[in-house]
Amino acid sequence: MKRLLLIVLLLSATTFSAVADKGMWLPSLISSRIKDMKSKGFKLSAEDIYSINKASLKDAVVLFDGGCTGEIVSEKGLLLTNHHCGYDAIQALSTVEHDYLTYGFWAKSHAEELPCPGLKVHILVRMEEVTERLAAGESKEQIIAKAEAEGVGFRASVESMYYGNIAYLFIYREFSDVRLVGTPPSAIGKFGADNDNWIWPRHTGDFSVFRIYANEQNEPAEYSASNKPYKPARHFKVSTKGVKEGDFTMIYGFPGNTQEYITSDAVRYISELSDPTKIALRTERLDIIGRAQATSAKIRLQYAAKHANIANAWKKWQGEVKGINRLGTVAKKLAYEERFRRENPDKAYLLDSLAAAYERNAEGYFNYELYSETIRGIELQRVVNIAFSSASEEAKMAAAELFYKDFVLEVDRQLAVAMLTQYEAKGTFISEELKALFAAHGGAKGYAEWLYDNTKLGSMEGFTVEAAKCDPMTEFVMALQPIMQRIKPYTYRNFSNIPDIERWFRPYVKALMEWDKSRAFFPDANLTLRVAYGKVAGYEYADGEYHLPQTTLEGIMEKDNPEIYDYNIPQSLRDVYATKDYGRWGVTMNGKYTVPVCFIATNHTTGGNSGSPVINGNGELIGINFDRTWLSTMSDIEFDETLCRNIICDIRYVLFVMDKVGGAGWLIDEMGI
Ligand code: ARG
Ligand code: GLU
Repeated sequence: MKRLLLIVLLLSATTFSAVADKGMWLPSLISSRIKDMKSKGFKLSAEDIYSINKASLKDAVVLFDGGCTGEIVSEKGLLLTNHHCGYDAIQALSTVEHDYLTYGFWAKSHAEELPCPGLKVHILVRMEEVTERLAAGESKEQIIAKAEAEGVGFRASVESMYYGNIAYLFIYREFSDVRLVGTPPSAIGKFGADNDNWIWPRHTGDFSVFRIYANEQNEPAEYSASNKPYKPARHFKVSTKGVKEGDFTMIYGFPGNTQEYITSDAVRYISELSDPTKIALRTERLDIIGRAQATSAKIRLQYAAKHANIANAWKKWQGEVKGINRLGTVAKKLAYEERFRRENPDKAYLLDSLAAAYERNAEGYFNYELYSETIRGIELQRVVNIAFSSASEEAKMAAAELFYKDFVLEVDRQLAVAMLTQYEAKGTFISEELKALFAAHGGAKGYAEWLYDNTKLGSMEGFTVEAAKCDPMTEFVMALQPIMQRIKPYTYRNFSNIPDIERWFRPYVKALMEWDKSRAFFPDANLTLRVAYGKVAGYEYADGEYHLPQTTLEGIMEKDNPEIYDYNIPQSLRDVYATKDYGRWGVTMNGKYTVPVCFIATNHTTGGNSGSPVINGNGELIGINFDRTWLSTMSDIEFDETLCRNIICDIRYVLFVMDKVGGAGWLIDEMGI
C-alpha cells in the first residue's frame, strides 16, 4: 500500500506541476515538488531543504512553545518568532517595575538575556515513514521509546497523514533553556491589535527575539547559568534586498490544522452550525469583557490576553463562513462527490457511510463544542481544580495567586450567567446533577447568580483547600463531571477526526487519491513540519479595489493616534520618522523615502505558521509570517489562489526596529548583516 500511495503522490505531483501554489508539503518528499518550485524561482535543491546526511534548512526551523514556529538566524542560536508567539513568555517576565510588554526589552549582552521557565523549542532531527512498522505489529509507544533512546533530549511522536493511511515518526531535539533577547514595545509588536488582526493592509511589527542555550557538548539541557549559546547545524542568512510583486517565496514551518478533504456534510456543519454558534457565544463573552475593560485600566490589562485570544478565532470564523459561502464550497463538494459516485460506483458506499457517521456523531460533537465555548469560559471553576490537584500546599497557593492576579469576580459572574443560560438553552447533554441545580434556583440564570453570591472562593483571601471542600463552586464542578464523561468520545480537534468518522475517511481519501489524478494531495496540516511556496502578490479585495502587496512606515504614521491605545506608537518611532534617519533600512517606494513594514504572498499557511521563516529563491530570510488576510480565512477548508494571502513582517522592518528603536545593533552584527 505504501508504494501505491507514493506512486499516486508522485503522479499527481508531475501532472499538477506549475499549476497551484496550494499545498503544505512534507519536507522529506519535497523532491516531488522541486521541479515546480524551480520553475517559479527557487534556486536551491531538495537536499538544501531537508537532508539527514548534511546540514539543511530544516536544522534552522523550530517548533516554538508547542504551537508556533521560529527560525535560527545566527551561529549562536539567535531565534526569531512573532511577538504574539513570545507574548506569554514576555508577559511572565514583566512586572510593574519592568514592564517589558509595554516598553519593550533589549538585552545588551548575553548576560542580560532573560531565562524563560517552561518555554521549549523543538528542532526536527528527522522524519520517517513507519506505516509498515505499525502494520507489522510494533506499537506507537514502542516506536517512540526506541527513537527517544537514540539521543540526549530526543522527543518523538508518531503522526498519521491522510486520515491514517500513512504514519510518520518525527524525532526532535527538545531545548528547554530558551532566553528572551529582545522584544519591541507592544505599540509596535501588537500595533493595531484586534482591529487590524486578520486584516490587510497591515502595519504590525509582530516579532520577538530569543536565544537557545545548550550544555558544554551543545546538547539540550535544563537551564543553567553555565549553558552556552546553541550552535546550530545551519542558520538562515538574512537578505535585506527586499521583495517585489511576483518574487518566489517559501515558508518553512509548523501549520496546525487544515481540513481540505472533508465532505460537504462536514463543511455544512462548520459554516451553518458550528461557526455561527461559536461566533455568537464569543460575541457575548467579548461584550462582557470589553465593557469591563472600558471601566478601568487595571481590568483592561488583566483581560488583555484573554480578550485577544477569544477575539482571534471569533474574527477568523466570521471570515471563514463568509469565505465558504463566497466560494460555494458546499455546492462544489457536492458536485465532486456526485462525480466520485458516478465514476466509482463500487465505492459510493464510502460516501454513504461517511454521511451516516456524521449524522451519528453530530449531536455529540456539537455538545462537545458547546461545552468548550460556554462552560469552559467560566474561569472560577479552575480554582477548584487547583485546590484538589495533587500538588503541594505551597504550589497550590502559588497557582491560586497567579490565577487571581488576572481575575475579576464580577466579570466572571456575568460570564457565568450568560454562558450557563446559553448552555441550558442549547445543550442536550446536561447532567441530572446540573439540571437539579438549575431547577433549585429557577433555571440557569438564577443558579449562576446564586453560585457567585455564595461562593467563598471569589478571591485569594477566601481561597483555602478546606474552604473548597464545602464550597458551591465545587458542587458545580462535580455536576460537570458526568457531562465531561459524555462528551469524551467526541473530544477531537475536528469533527472528522472522531474515530467513528475517521475510519471511513481512511478508505475514502485513499480512493480519492487513486481516482483523482489531477489533484495534488498534500496531507492536511497537523503541526508537523511543512513547506509551502508561492509568490509575493497583491490581490483584488473588492470590485475595483486592488491591494498592493507591501506596506510602509507611511501607513503607520497615518494610523498613529495617541488617543487610541492600539494605535499609539512609541515616541522614539515618531522621532525617527521626523528626521527620516532610516540608515540602511530606508528605501524609496511609490516616490517616498520610507521603510518597508509588511508584505503578502500566496503561501498556503494556517495557525502554527506564525513565526515561520519566509525565504526567497536563494533560501535567504526575507520576513516572518504572522497572519492571513480577511478573505483567506476559509483556506483551512478551501484554499483559493486568487484570494488567499499570508501576511509577513518584512525582515527590514524587524532590523529597523532593532536598530533604531531598540538600539540593539549588536544583534544585527551577530546576524552578519
Ligand atoms: N491572527 C493571528 C493568528 O491567528 C494573530 C493573532 C494574535 N493577535 C491578536 N490580535 N489576537 O494567530
Ligand atoms: N496568527 C496565526 C498563528 O498564530 C497565523 C495566522 C493563520 O492562521 O494563518 O499561527
